[in-house]
Amino acid sequence: MATIKSVLHETRVFPPDGGFVQQANLSGMEAYRALCSEAEQDPEGFWGRLAREHILWREPFSRVLDESAHPFFKWFEDGVLNVSFNCLDRHLASQPDKVALIFEADDGRVTRCTYRDLHERVCRLANGLRSLGVASGDRIVIYMPMCIEAVVAMQACARIGVTHSVVFGGFSAKSLHERIRDAGAVAVVTADEQYRGGRTNHLKTAVDEAIALGGLETLRSVVVYRRGPGDIRWEAGRDVWWQDLVGNQEVVCEPEWVGAEHPLFTLYTSGSTGKPKGVQHSSAGYLLGSVLSMKWVFDYKPDDVFWCTADVGWVTGHSYVTYGPLAVGATQVIFEGIPTYPDAGRFWKIIQDHRVTTFYTAPTAIRSLIKNGPDRPKEYDLSSLRLLGSVGEPINPEAWMWYYTVVGQSRCPVVDTWWQTETGSHMIAPLPGAIPLKPGSCTLPLPGIAAAIVDEAGQDIENGKGGFLVIKRPFPYQARTLWGDPERFRDTYFPRELGGYYLAGDSAHRDEDGYFWIMGRADDVLNVSGHRLGTMEIESALVANPLVAEAAVVGRPDDIRGEAIVAFVVLKGERPQGEEAGRIAAELRNWVSREIGPIARPEEIRFGDNLPKTRSGKIMRRLLRTLAQGGEITQDVSTLENPAILEQLKQSAA
Ligand code: WTA
Repeated sequence: MATIKSVLHETRVFPPDGGFVQQANLSGMEAYRALCSEAEQDPEGFWGRLAREHILWREPFSRVLDESAHPFFKWFEDGVLNVSFNCLDRHLASQPDKVALIFEADDGRVTRCTYRDLHERVCRLANGLRSLGVASGDRIVIYMPMCIEAVVAMQACARIGVTHSVVFGGFSAKSLHERIRDAGAVAVVTADEQYRGGRTNHLKTAVDEAIALGGLETLRSVVVYRRGPGDIRWEAGRDVWWQDLVGNQEVVCEPEWVGAEHPLFTLYTSGSTGKPKGVQHSSAGYLLGSVLSMKWVFDYKPDDVFWCTADVGWVTGHSYVTYGPLAVGATQVIFEGIPTYPDAGRFWKIIQDHRVTTFYTAPTAIRSLIKNGPDRPKEYDLSSLRLLGSVGEPINPEAWMWYYTVVGQSRCPVVDTWWQTETGSHMIAPLPGAIPLKPGSCTLPLPGIAAAIVDEAGQDIENGKGGFLVIKRPFPYQARTLWGDPERFRDTYFPRELGGYYLAGDSAHRDEDGYFWIMGRADDVLNVSGHRLGTMEIESALVANPLVAEAAVVGRPDDIRGEAIVAFVVLKGERPQGEEAGRIAAELRNWVSREIGPIARPEEIRFGDNLPKTRSGKIMRRLLRTLAQGGEITQDVSTLENPAILEQLKQSAA
């Protein structure tokens, strides 16, 4: 397989020590091996010990794991806790004045918030939400910019036992509507405005549009954090300014003590079929994963300044902005803007200004910064950095080397962390100081994670050969179900053929040292700039346009974004040519952007009289993938109903 070769060309091993970090939490390879064998010999004893050590329990649990309803596992079930208490109250006595959040806005303004402040803000909002009649068991949709209040909103939900569902601020009103409805949310928490790259997005307007689409019977309140001039449409009785809501609230709020399995949040993500699915996480198990990875993978130390660039709209922003860093009591940076505004030095300037020690970002950002200024980091003082992280897609060895040598000045380990919305936190990642690094490999599974590569029948595959990445044993921080669709959860992630293993949806292989190399998705999910998008989702959006009869969407490798979206479209009318084709393509791109969000906008649209289909009517996507890449068709096309269409679709690219 070509992918294996291209990743493997750089197999240099980077030593774990020799000037690297001094691991505070794990002393080396032997400590790693000892944890792995503890987990193998007695998984329940292992997880139980960690859960007791790392979580503050209101009531202890008596049983670690209940597997009887496989794959609907229950962990620490009779334990009682509150996640917000674990993130905030636990630090009030020891470090009330430590800065929790350093917020840098798009325009460069900086606001700081201590643990005491943050606790107070969370309590006030939690009380405010309760005053609106919101109660434990309800769902709230959060549609916020990256700002302190986004973290406050999530923590406030956790405090009162409300399950939050954060919708990325870049999603359209239509996507927002779908998610509010699916969750049966009673309230939406939003802001009037979001500022990115010097531009203003009107989030509350999108909420109004979503509500206008109708059918949101459960929704009673819209809480709006005011940042702009405030001249927005207002629906009295439903809309309430955040500032008014919290104004008279008490600064303490008794947490809602919940069972370990209480759903902390759902987060919608794309799959290969149908509409986005609401991945549902637990309270205790999820929290445990975030805390452990902060300590093991990010080697958290009390004087760290942690910066994860992810938006809270994605799982990375849940585990490594809102929950993990706060649970360990870290100081962290949060940033509303984009890496290239006002110029491509922005990230490096933030690291310099705030003395960031631990920096976590996505390969797509790294590649775009290489393109926009490979020597830029040298203009800044990056001496505070001690650890670099990568997430969201495979990092190509070239980008890894640049990150390591230019940004990390060959001093800082790069932790390439493989995980997913469904796994809650890191699964396969190097433990710096313990595990030698290889550029392009996420290295070895964390202790307790039984990762393996298998074939279609669930049989182990020998090292060096590609196959499906699975996790053989349950782990506390895995998703519990899909909101309202347990069957889809079981069918998607625990297919019968695989004998009960968790199927990640990625293909991967292991090298001779047992290191994992992720090759990409094994299903119809695209990874565009680290964001997951289902091809079916984009196709459904396209065929919802009155001009379109049929559409097929594939990915094409892209140097910066990982993958770019190419759509093959058949119109109801004549196949458009020349300028008309350009005009309709532009219209369809905007259409998809409005239907789903700008991240789903196709890079290229090609028109044909038909799509390549087998005689039984199945669209042959692999042919479309070859065409999208500009390659020659070498596959057998004898089963095609309409081979001539290939020539047409190839030419329509010109
Ligand atoms: C991909 C993001 C290679 C993978 C945390 C996975 C990666 C999907 C890596 C999950 C990595 C994430 N190396 N591929 N280090 N990290 N992926 O749910 O295909 O948005 O299945 O979670 O991203 O994306 P999700």
